[in-house]
Amino acid sequence: MINTHDKLSRFFISKKLGEVKGRALLRVDINVPVKDGKISRNNLRLKECAKSIEVYAHNGIIPIVLSHQGRIGDGDYLEGMEQHAQAIEALTKGVSVKYADSLTEDATRKAASRLKQGEALFLKNVRSHKDEKTEFGSIAQMANNGMVKSLSKVAEFYINDAPATMHRSDTSLVGFTHVMPSYLGLQMEKELNILNEIMAHLKEGKRTAIIFGGRKWEKFEYVYEISRHKNVKILSGGIPGESLCYVNNSSSFNKQNKKFISESGSLDTARKMVKNFSDRIIFPVEFVLDDRMNVGLDELKESNGMIMDIGDSTLNHFYDAITESEMIIYAGPVGVYEKGYNQTVRLITRFMGVKAMNYTFGGNSADSMDDIGLDRAYDLLSGKRITSGGSALAYLADKQLPVLGAFENKR
Ligand code: 3PG
Repeated sequence: MINTHDKLSRFFISKKLGEVKGRALLRVDINVPVKDGKISRNNLRLKECAKSIEVYAHNGIIPIVLSHQGRIGDGDYLEGMEQHAQAIEALTKGVSVKYADSLTEDATRKAASRLKQGEALFLKNVRSHKDEKTEFGSIAQMANNGMVKSLSKVAEFYINDAPATMHRSDTSLVGFTHVMPSYLGLQMEKELNILNEIMAHLKEGKRTAIIFGGRKWEKFEYVYEISRHKNVKILSGGIPGESLCYVNNSSSFNKQNKKFISESGSLDTARKMVKNFSDRIIFPVEFVLDDRMNVGLDELKESNGMIMDIGDSTLNHFYDAITESEMIIYAGPVGVYEKGYNQTVRLITRFMGVKAMNYTFGGNSADSMDDIGLDRAYDLLSGKRITSGGSALAYLADKQLPVLGAFENKR
């Protein structure tokens, strides 16, 4: 387990505010949901990023901001980050945000040279640069690639404030630490502190419910590792929940869902989860299909339609598990909440009221609250929300995180 305080605290920018001044390459993660080409502006990642940028800008730092938005080829990929720049300007007080639709040295240098105190500059999606996802064999090659060589010339130092991407080794996340004075940002520090707090609770054996869903098998693997803490209960919808249910009940599934789950890539994780932690899985027993009907396992085979959400009986079992928990980690919606399948919202309103330590992970979980105004109630009830989703689970699963590693290895 990485001991963040001993090894990393010397890099926290909070200790140097007012001392370190000038242009900073600031890597953030403001990857948010996108609908019809429009970003979701009312999102925790944007709000938190705006807070930090305001502090930097008022302390003599001029941020030149790098982020990704989606993955190339996916529906939420946007090459330009102008909408994000506008959203951040609207969320900050006294910070003027400029935008340059480029990542080239010339254009960035020109735009950066015009920047004044109290201003920030956003650049194009870093994933549009060929070097961002290229694997470089060594640190020397990484430090010598085009992106690092050119962008390191436009700023005096680098701040990594992207905790939600600390599990990736992309160039903009780990390349600059080798060639520039580098710091861990305010959001990074805040989230590492919260993650350390959660880790301590897991180690103490607090009765914990992890709620998650979604489509990425990677998160499911992390939850598997976290489930080695023996007081963790697994409450899942989405592909993980369906896969867990499928392992024991494959013959109950209709053709469409059988095909979907078989091709999801989640079954290996689901099988080992069932083999090792069966007594702590709250298995889905009922689902909501795309016609919005609740269907029990005994009716699923004869029904038409895809599973979109957990069903009412599953929800009731989840409620029981939540009520007995001392810590609740909400790490992702259990159904397709963005299309109005609303069991996730019912679940949130229930766990918010439980006397337990409440934590929410990631952009989509935050989105499912922000959209309907539940974020304020959650904050008032002392819930803690972090922008990290998959990366937070990776941290708790004790995985090596490349961004933290790049700092640890820095002389
Ligand atoms: C996330 O939303 O989990 C982060 O922005 C990381 O995105 P990625 O999984 O595409 O690297």
